[in-house]
Amino acid sequence: MLQTRVDSGLDGVIVADTVMSEVDGEAGRLIVRGQAVEDLVRTRGFEGVAALLWDGFAEGGGDEQAVRQGLAQARVRAFAEVPKLLTATRGLNPVEGLRVGLGMLADSEPMPHHYLVCGALPVFLAALLRAAEAKSALAPDPTLTTAQDLLRMIRGKRADEVFEKGLDTYLATVTDHGFNASTFTARVVASTRAGLISSVLAALCALKGPLHGGAPGPVLDMFDEIGTPERAEAWLDDAFAKGTRLMGFGHRVYKKRDPRADVLKNTVATLPQTAGRLAFAVEVERSAIASLRRHKPKQRLDTNVEYYTALLLEALEVPRSAFTALFAVGRAAGWCAHVFEQEKGGRLIRPQSTYVGPRPR
Ligand code: CMC
Repeated sequence: MLQTRVDSGLDGVIVADTVMSEVDGEAGRLIVRGQAVEDLVRTRGFEGVAALLWDGFAEGGGDEQAVRQGLAQARVRAFAEVPKLLTATRGLNPVEGLRVGLGMLADSEPMPHHYLVCGALPVFLAALLRAAEAKSALAPDPTLTTAQDLLRMIRGKRADEVFEKGLDTYLATVTDHGFNASTFTARVVASTRAGLISSVLAALCALKGPLHGGAPGPVLDMFDEIGTPERAEAWLDDAFAKGTRLMGFGHRVYKKRDPRADVLKNTVATLPQTAGRLAFAVEVERSAIASLRRHKPKQRLDTNVEYYTALLLEALEVPRSAFTALFAVGRAAGWCAHVFEQEKGGRLIRPQSTYVGPRPR
């Protein structure tokens, strides 16, 4: 019988080697395939980061143009599924709608599945958002990048370049992040050889929880409730008294500020008319960190990616209900990379537990 006891959250447990990314919690640093995230997204957009992640593992790997073309073709292919998607998703929120959409894709689909999945998610998301406003879905434009086309399909027309660039930076920034819960989920499913589509669908289900990818919507709810900076301290004290977790703060691995927070904060600052909202968020952040130090002195809790994600997506005029679904659009490239890596070198993931229940006499 195994005697080893581990933390129930697998805190600190190393479960695999990976070349994809490293989250250094003590240094507050994220490296994606050899580059610090802040440097990476200065030079590459979403397709560029996807090409880097898939390099050596899948078709298009290392070739940004090939990835751009593959994803564009996949968006066109996925659009054919939209009528079926909309019939099946009435009354569902966007992330639930994406869950249905991925479930509709057949394992027998001849197109490379990493393209199919990463092309389908933005098409499905835009169609779901437009359907919620009783608008018909817009066909994809294969000459555009994912970010350009996604904003166009949501809004009905091309957005200003600064918005397209803002969304592209967001998608590129969130593509991969070590063995977070959804990526680990994808690898567990991939380890059974269930295939890429099933692995990504499972990952999406893990992402949707409020402790993982569901946090940015509630960050804006918090801003709404606080209202003005002077009210922040009282609101935060009340939140701690009620045992409420502050969304957009804390992280399992980072013991310092999440480096993605500053990438996204700087991106917000490039967008028009965000100065007032940004100043408010900075004030609330300052109060929140002071409150965390006061109320949770033993924990090292700081700002995570979701705090400025919330502000950025709000500035991009993405509806709050779609934040988690949009996170999935970016993260899907990383999930696919991990599925490839798992399929290439990994064994079936099958840990053990310590039985603490009764035994037969
Ligand atoms: N607000 C208040 N207290 C917190 C917070 C927070 N945001 N995060 C952790 N704590 C406290 C928690 O209450 C506990 O305190 P105590 O020991 O007194 O009971 C202690 O810190 C440890 O909490 P834990 O749940 O064991 O820590 P964890 O490593 O499992 O938590 C986390 C990581 C991200 C789930 C957590 O920090 C959290 O719930 N944050 C808010 C939700 C959020 O912003 N999620 C997005 C994470 S970043 C995107 C991603 O990669 O998914």
